[in-house]
Amino acid sequence: MEILITGANGQLAQDIWRLAEAKGWIVKAFVHQQLDITNYTQVKEAITFLKPDVVINCAAYNAVDEAETNWRQAFLVNGIGPRHLATICENLTIPLVHFSTDFVFDGQKNTPYTIADTPSPLSKYGLSKFLGEQEIVRLTHHYYLIRVSWVFGLKGKVGVNFIKKIISWAKDKKRLRIVTDQTSSPSYTEDIAKAVLDLIQTGQYGLYHLTNTGYCSRYEWARFILKTIKWSGELLPAKSKDFPTPAQRPVFSALDSFPLKHILGYELPSWQEATERFLRNKA
Ligand SMILES: NC(=O)c1ccc[n+]([C@@H]2O[C@H](COP(=O)([O-])OP(=O)(O)OC[C@H]3O[C@@H](n4cnc5c(N)ncnc54)[C@H](OP(=O)(O)O)[C@@H]3O)[C@@H](O)[C@H]2O)c1
Repeated sequence: MEILITGANGQLAQDIWRLAEAKGWIVKAFVHQQLDITNYTQVKEAITFLKPDVVINCAAYNAVDEAETNWRQAFLVNGIGPRHLATICENLTIPLVHFSTDFVFDGQKNTPYTIADTPSPLSKYGLSKFLGEQEIVRLTHHYYLIRVSWVFGLKGKVGVNFIKKIISWAKDKKRLRIVTDQTSSPSYTEDIAKAVLDLIQTGQYGLYHLTNTGYCSRYEWARFILKTIKWSGELLPAKSKDFPTPAQRPVFSALDSFPLKHILGYELPSWQEATERFLRNKA
C-alpha cells in the first residue's frame, strides 16, 4: 500500500504517517512548504507522478477566529484545495480521504449529530469546511469524507490542541475559568489514524463521523485533564459570552459515529481513556 499525505506536519497527519509506516506501508508525505494544496499544477504533478493507492488530505486552515476576516484564505485551503484534490484523484481513479469538522453544524440539536443531519455552519471556518465537503462529494466518487471534532495529538500546536492549551494555562495560573456551553467529542489523533487506515482497506466510500466515544463540555474536559495531572488550582465554570470571540461556536456539536461499528466492527475508545493515554504518552 502506498499513500500520499498532504499537510504532513499537522497533528493528525503525523499519527497517520507513523501508523501507516508501522504497518509497512510506503508513505509519501508532503509538508505545506513542499506541496501547497491550493496550487493545482503542483498537486497534479505530484499525484500524477507518484500515483499512490490513496491520497490522504490532512492540510487545513484551522484558525477558527482568524477565518472570520481572513475568509478567502480559509476558503482557499479548506474549499478550493479539496476541490483540486478531488478533480485530480477522480481523473486518476485514486481514492481520496478528506477531513471535515463538527463546526459544519449549528449546535441546535441536543443529541449527537449523525451523518444524516444537515450542516448549517455558524462561522466562516465552518462554511469553508462545508465548501470542501461539497466539492469532494460533487467531484469524486471514491472518497472517505470524515468529520472529526476537538482533535488532539502529540504533535499538535497549542493553538489547535485543547489539552496542551489547558496544561500551558495551568502552569502559570492558580485559577482557570472554562466554558460549560460548548460540548463535543474529544478525539485523539492516534485513534482517528488507526480507524482511517482500517477504513481505507474496506473500499466502503462515503461520509463518516469519527471521534472518541462519548462527549463533554470544555469545562468537563478541562476538569478531567486537570485532575489527571493533579493540578492544585481552582477551576470555575464560565459561559462563552464571558470570552467574546470573532467566530461563533456551536453549543452542542457531538458527533455520533454510526455506522462505524457496522463497518469496522469497533468504535473508538472513550474520550476519558484517550485523554489519559495522551497524557501518559506526552509525559
Ligand atoms: N484541530 C481540531 O480541533 C480539528 C477539529 C475538527 C476538524 N479538524 C480537521 O482535522 C484535520 C486535521 O487537523 P489537524 O488538527 O491535524 O490540523 P493541523 O495540526 O493544524 O495541521 C494542518 C496542516 O495543514 C498545513 N497546511 C495549511 N495550509 C496548507 C496548504 N495550503 N497546503 C498544504 N498544507 C497546508 C499546515 O501547515 P502550516 O502550519 O505550515 O501552514 C499544517 O501542518 C483538518 O481537516 C481539520 O480541519 C481539526
